[in-house]
Amino acid sequence: MSYISFCSDEGYPYNLDFDYGALAQLQHFSINNLGDPFIESNYGVHSRQFEVGVLDWFARLWELEKNEYWGYITNCGTEGNLHGILVGREVFPDGILYASRESHYSVFKAARMYRMDCVKVDTLISGEIDCADFQRKLSLNRDKPAIINVNIGTTVKGAVDDLDLVIKTLEESGFKDQFYIHCDGALFGLMIPFVKKAPQVTFKKPIGSVSVSGHKFVGCPMPCGVQVTRLEHINALSSNVEYLASRDATIMGSRNGHAPIFLWYTLNRKGYRGFQKEVQKCLRNAHYLKDRLREAGVGAMLNELSSTVVFERPKDEEFVRRWQLACEGNIAHVVVMPNVTIDKLDYFLNELVEKRATWYQDGVCQPPCIARDVGQENCLCSLHKK
Ligand SMILES: Cc1ncc(COP(=O)(O)O)c(C=O)c1O
Repeated sequence: MSYISFCSDEGYPYNLDFDYGALAQLQHFSINNLGDPFIESNYGVHSRQFEVGVLDWFARLWELEKNEYWGYITNCGTEGNLHGILVGREVFPDGILYASRESHYSVFKAARMYRMDCVKVDTLISGEIDCADFQRKLSLNRDKPAIINVNIGTTVKGAVDDLDLVIKTLEESGFKDQFYIHCDGALFGLMIPFVKKAPQVTFKKPIGSVSVSGHKFVGCPMPCGVQVTRLEHINALSSNVEYLASRDATIMGSRNGHAPIFLWYTLNRKGYRGFQKEVQKCLRNAHYLKDRLREAGVGAMLNELSSTVVFERPKDEEFVRRWQLACEGNIAHVVVMPNVTIDKLDYFLNELVEKRATWYQDGVCQPPCIARDVGQENCLCSLHKK
């Protein structure tokens, strides 16, 4: 096993456990799904049948009838957010965008691009949206509809916003049907259906759209994503384009025609049961990592519904680069994906413990305090360890 493939991916949520040998020949074709997935365009080399197959799969997962949904395979989770928030803005042109501080930067980028008023909502120590603060902020803007980004797994802490509590807060604040919810499921959109006790993402609830990244948990070798929304919303947003002989309702023009085939292949090869097993394995392995870190005296936190283990930022940038750890301030994280095995975690842990002994051997330099990021109970700095 090469050094790079062993060590290159811990901090980023990319499932590298894939084998697409059967699809290698596809690189000889320029496959482009430009336009609307449901309306054939003039360009003949496309994979629309696979795209619609993938969309049907996700619409079933998120419980939206075939004749009631619209969606497309995006270039990435960011594009899904840009699209979902745009749909919300088209439904409520004077709506205010609400998003927790720990939302992905693409959400705030959407607000800037669309020149929307945007209100940042505080978060709990877990990284979840703080609905008490949400309620306070809603009460200041009762005259304007609310467009809300709900995180199904935040980037840094893997926190899952409580969708049910967000809906309850909106209803209790008098917003009735004057709101639009976009669920950013880039990270855990495909994991959450298989996590017991998680608030489920379903169009049976009053949500407007859901997006997920295809190269994260699904494990596609190229960046891509899935965006699903209600068909009734899309007519407001689209226009016909004669040159394409199709409808323009997507963010991008030309669209990757290979990605739907790779996604379709994986969804059918693994199926619901396959994903369920992978999710369970990731959650188990994430618990293992968190427990072992703490046994070794390293402060660490793992949200209940998540496979993202947050811990103290390693002192040495070379170590951070070698393991491709994503860091923010005093914390780093490992996102346990299906390709992250116990052996790999042991290798990582042993190396971290060994290096830490040298970083902090003289006692002058101390491990960072991470209480502000993850709570005192998860911090093992000299001040907080019992
Ligand atoms: C919560 C969340 N949303 C959106 C994105 C953006 O996804 P992508 O990298 O596929 O554009 C990410 C990426 O890490 C993310 O963590």
